[in-house]
Amino acid sequence: MQVKGNNVLITGGCSGIGKIMARICLEKGARQVIIWDINERAIAATVKELSGKGIVRGFMADISDPESVDAACAATKAACGEIDILINNAGIITNNRTFAEQTDRDIIRTIDINTKGAMFVTLRFIRGMKARGRGHICNITSSAGMLALPRMALYTSSKWASIGWSESLRIELSREKSPVHVTTVAPYFINTGMFNGIHSFFKIQDPEVVARKAVNAMERNKSYKGIPFSEHFIRLMQGIFPQRLFDFIFGDVCGLYTVMNHFTGRKENVTHEHVFTKDRNAGVRSEEVLRERENPRRKMA
Ligand SMILES: NC(=O)c1ccc[n+]([C@@H]2O[C@H](COP(=O)([O-])OP(=O)(O)OC[C@H]3O[C@@H](n4cnc5c(N)ncnc54)[C@H](O)[C@@H]3O)[C@@H](O)[C@H]2O)c1
Repeated sequence: MQVKGNNVLITGGCSGIGKIMARICLEKGARQVIIWDINERAIAATVKELSGKGIVRGFMADISDPESVDAACAATKAACGEIDILINNAGIITNNRTFAEQTDRDIIRTIDINTKGAMFVTLRFIRGMKARGRGHICNITSSAGMLALPRMALYTSSKWASIGWSESLRIELSREKSPVHVTTVAPYFINTGMFNGIHSFFKIQDPEVVARKAVNAMERNKSYKGIPFSEHFIRLMQGIFPQRLFDFIFGDVCGLYTVMNHFTGRKENVTHEHVFTKDRNAGVRSEEVLRERENPRRKMA
């Protein structure tokens, strides 16, 4: 579906490729770009930054919480009308620990945001899209949704599930001959800061290029877009190579199985740790807010 003239909703639109896609959609003439994010401060800054390019609105939403999604959905529909294009982009990586070192909390957070979040959001918009006979859903997954990678077990499993869900949804809609389309985008590592510290044999992708390719794939109604294109061969290689040979080539020779060893993430910026919790009195708050509340001096440091 063409962006021009349509209402576009982007989750996680305050950072990385989400923010760049928001800018690109405005440049392409979107009627309105609506940003949902958990980071309230970043929403205000992003709306201010992009408002010179067109109509952009921001709403606080924790996509992992159905109640928060309901509230954001109601506020969005009241202020902006119906959504024509939904880009499910928000995602997190919690750490580079082995699975044995993980906590229940990290398992829940990763699956709730990366896997269930896009489902919760999509469920609130898909019935309206089907009833109106128009709409496009673009799901930003990851090449890690096709690969098994050490020290990334939670992230990879969340993205494998995402790809399976996104592809199933696409096939359901296509078999119903619905005019609503789905594009699944699976990029390799991107230089946004989310995966700071990794050592990659393969080229780390440029955020601007990935964002533009994702929007273009959506506008061309592509069903699946691996970035870079060579990623489309992963499944073929998994199918034809004996497991040990695949492990040797990609794990040992290309170093993919040690790619996360030096991962740091965005240490310098707590707003991007994506750590959040629920506070019954205050609603959903980013942990940054909670930490500042507990220790106001930290903010001054
Ligand atoms: N960066 C990479 O190397 C890479 C590679 C492949 C796929 N991806 C995927 O692309 C997407 C964007 O990645 P990025 O690098 O631009 O990320 P990013 O960290 O720069 O931005 C993610 C945004 O999502 C928001 N967010 C986090 N949790 C949320 C929640 N519960 N509810 C609403 N918003 C929430 C954050 O506040 C942030 O604005 C993610 O889904 C990621 O998994 C990233």
